[in-house]
Amino acid sequence: MTSHYSRRAFLKAGTIFTSFGLTQQLCGSLAFAAPAAMDFGTVSFGVISDPHVDIKGVNEFKMSAGSVDCVAASVAALNQHNELKFVMVCGDLLLDGEKENAIAIKAELDKLKAPYFVVAGNHDFKPAKETALRSGFNYMSIDDFVRFFRGHGYDKSGKRFYAQQIVPGLRVIGLDANLPGDTKWGGVLPDEQLQWLEHQLSSHTDAMHVVFIHHNLVRWSADELEGGPKQWFTIDNAPQVRALLSKYAAAVPVVISGHRHIGLNLRQINGVNYFTSPSVNSHPMRFTIYDINKDGISWQTQRVPMPTQFHLSARENMLNSTWWRQSECAERNSFTDEQVLDLYENNAMQMGSMKLKS
Ligand SMILES: [Fe+2]
Ligand SMILES: [Fe+2]
Repeated sequence: MTSHYSRRAFLKAGTIFTSFGLTQQLCGSLAFAAPAAMDFGTVSFGVISDPHVDIKGVNEFKMSAGSVDCVAASVAALNQHNELKFVMVCGDLLLDGEKENAIAIKAELDKLKAPYFVVAGNHDFKPAKETALRSGFNYMSIDDFVRFFRGHGYDKSGKRFYAQQIVPGLRVIGLDANLPGDTKWGGVLPDEQLQWLEHQLSSHTDAMHVVFIHHNLVRWSADELEGGPKQWFTIDNAPQVRALLSKYAAAVPVVISGHRHIGLNLRQINGVNYFTSPSVNSHPMRFTIYDINKDGISWQTQRVPMPTQFHLSARENMLNSTWWRQSECAERNSFTDEQVLDLYENNAMQMGSMKLKS
């Protein structure tokens, strides 16, 4: 057996070590979740995140000129999976809260064979900064967005959060930590939702819940630490929300977020498994299919079926995007590019499975 150890593998190991240390520092010890009581068979579902549709866009880090095509291609690919019980669109559907872009993406999402749900991201309502507004667009408030996607998780109450039963024994919860009217793109989960969430979990302890929230509840890199340039990928009261979820970990073993635009990643903290989803509109442009039952979860991320040249442009645009690179990799060279690709592709997580047992 060869003991060859590539530089990429070495870097990967370093990243994992750093992340693990970070987790220990921030969140305490790791644990697996206990299984839910009710056997609901196996349920398959898809996740599309951060499509950032813009009908007048140009291709930068976000491949806006191709954004509608990216959603259409993702929808067509997901429609080949007849087993899907639902698809979640995990926020940032729009470039910046434009009604016209909402109409464009809804026209594509409505072609999904499976029912689809939506949670709002920080780009799904009128930006607080006037300089972000563009002529030729009408802008929606977050309440407009919720009304526009009523029936896709949101109900007639107009509330920005919801619970939906998929099958007896499996429920989906959509949360919203957005701060509309604030120039900050981070979030805080309000007390109203914390109390509602606790009520949902405490009154459905025999069911398994999958929570979807656009913002992250864990930090994935050093730049995301409090005070860092990317601190707002994680909500301010994440420790409080995680503590609540851990209290009911047997009933809520899985949380899935978007917002961070890195390849699928997973962190286990005190019985709860936190996933962050790749964007279908920035490198590596992937969507995810999960299979879940009371004993475990498996997943595969698939590349959005767009032309090779489009993917190559997305990768180059990502590498050239100073803001999105890790601070320690600000200067481009082959070594730092490799570290950036490791974080953003995270290819080791393209497929996997884990037991949801203590
Ligand atoms: Fe996003
Ligand atoms: Fe976002």
